[in-house]
Amino acid sequence: PALRPLHGLRALVTAGPTHEPIDPVRYLANRSSGRQGYAIADALAQAGAAVTLISGPTILPPPPGVTLHRVETAVQMLAACDAAMPCDIAVCTAAVADWRIATPVTSKIKKTPGAPPPSLALVPNPDILAHLSRPGPARPRLVVGFAAETDDVRDNAVAKRKRKGCDWIIANDVRAQTGIMGGNENEVTLITATGSEYWPRMSKDAVACGLVRRITAAFDIAPDS
Ligand code: C5P
Repeated sequence: PALRPLHGLRALVTAGPTHEPIDPVRYLANRSSGRQGYAIADALAQAGAAVTLISGPTILPPPPGVTLHRVETAVQMLAACDAAMPCDIAVCTAAVADWRIATPVTSKIKKTPGAPPPSLALVPNPDILAHLSRPGPARPRLVVGFAAETDDVRDNAVAKRKRKGCDWIIANDVRAQTGIMGGNENEVTLITATGSEYWPRMSKDAVACGLVRRITAAFDIAPDS
């Protein structure tokens, strides 16, 4: 059991971007590759957890032993998360689009010569992390969020942990020159209720392993001997 310390626990991981349709051929999206979330799902499964990975569109192969649900939009991701409950551990790495198009249309929007470009009305998407963090009997015992920031990374992430109601937040600096968004490495600060810890730049797999070690400790499971 020490080799699979999370055996018997259920984990939910969200990963990747969401695509929010404008019309049948166009969408709003972001630069998330899904790599960090897939690495976490993989590490949790290797540690013995029963893992459901809810993924937006990515080019990544599913990690072995993980139940993968592919979705496109934030609304679909929320529904897939609810369907995967209850669980013990939720890790929200997905770069969920903050907004979706208020009224996506089923026919391609045409360019009319001389006409002004269309304006897109947006409405807010559901906040999946805040939703999963809401207190109640069905709340996962541990909810972990990510905070991708470009400025005042730590301070913003500390505030975000409180605002979302999650237990831990992993803050990372996604300024373009870091190469983190879409890359293979990450440089993070783990923020809990009691403090914060900086982890120097390392592979996204190594961040995932570090997180699984922390989760194992939090569930008070004896580490490998
Ligand atoms: O508010 P912000 O997008 O910066 O928060 C990031 C964290 O919240 C990430 O863990 C992300 O997966 C989660 N999130 C979410 N649903 C949203 C927006 C963010 O689960 N609609």
